Amino acid sequence: MKKLTLLGGLTTQQFLRDYWHKKPLLIRQAIPQFKPLLTREELAAMAARDDVESRLVTHFGARWQLKKGPFDQLPPFSKKAWTTLIQGVNLHHDGADALMQQFRFLPDARLDDLMISYATDTGGVGPHFDAYDVFLLQAHGKRLWRIGPQTDMTLVEGLPVKILKNFKPEQEMVLEPGDMLYLPPHYAHDGIAVGECMTYSIGFRTPSFQELGEGFLQYLTESVELDGHYADPDLAPTSKPAEIGSDMITRVATAIRKIRFADDDIAIFLGEYLSEPKPSVFFDAPVRSTSLPRFLERAEKRGVKLARKTRMLYRGRHVFINGDSFVAASADRRALVKLADRRGLDPEDIKAASEDVREALHAWHEDGWIVLQ
Ligand code: SIN
Ligand code: CO
Repeated sequence: MKKLTLLGGLTTQQFLRDYWHKKPLLIRQAIPQFKPLLTREELAAMAARDDVESRLVTHFGARWQLKKGPFDQLPPFSKKAWTTLIQGVNLHHDGADALMQQFRFLPDARLDDLMISYATDTGGVGPHFDAYDVFLLQAHGKRLWRIGPQTDMTLVEGLPVKILKNFKPEQEMVLEPGDMLYLPPHYAHDGIAVGECMTYSIGFRTPSFQELGEGFLQYLTESVELDGHYADPDLAPTSKPAEIGSDMITRVATAIRKIRFADDDIAIFLGEYLSEPKPSVFFDAPVRSTSLPRFLERAEKRGVKLARKTRMLYRGRHVFINGDSFVAASADRRALVKLADRRGLDPEDIKAASEDVREALHAWHEDGWIVLQ
């Protein structure tokens, strides 16, 4: 197993065994000579877009305030104690997307997005904890992190942001560009900008079981098939007409218990659910449509890759792309699995692919789900 600079010389196995979900890890120069991918002006421009999720947290005069974007105007860069947080930058920027890919030693089903925060001096979101793991990569300027394995999770009441009431940090560290801090879920932290700074957070998806359960039941409504109608040939006269009879409960319970599901249903539900783009995501379809032969001619020369916004997963014979699912014939599986894992196909792969796959690639290209290399 290769030792990764990104993980401070640990192998991915060592990192997962010793740190993941267990304890924080500070990695000095995880990405040596790291240069920010976007300027503060470019970030401000992203915060102004309505297809980008952004927030503004201010701590002016010791008062916490939160606003949701888009923002025509942010506070002046010269004013202290504010931060803007831009979610999903990887969906819009090639460099940010490439940075996210470095974390694909973890499954796509768990990786969420790259968030960028810009803060002026003393800015931050206050002491808090998150439900998910996070890698905090310092991209520009310095940030003081105060962290601790808090047990008292009480929050200050009545605030628009989650702030721990009795934050007890146990460690302090100042991160400089290229340094990275990994924090497990529920590990308390407070990042305070030391002068102007930018932090990139690689975050993870941790859907609640409640959310998964509700989603699965919705999935089941689309596949459930129960034959017949309620009938009671043995009905007896009643003196309590408003009461629901025991016979009725038993009959309906018997019918409902026929609803069955297998692990395959869980796989299909998960694949569709986890590959579904966030509601704010819109694909950029090509301006002009390309005919199938013309597309194939180009694809066989240049290869294709998944668009930044495309989420593609697979499980056994099931393939999922942007919330759609289908069963791939065994001859098609190799190409589709490669497309999902590598997020791209070479000209040779396209030449060797079945007609079904080649047609699917064309349709996905028309939708803006894949692009030519
Ligand atoms: C930030 O970048 O300011 C916030 C990141 C976090 O604490 O989760
Ligand atoms: Co946090």
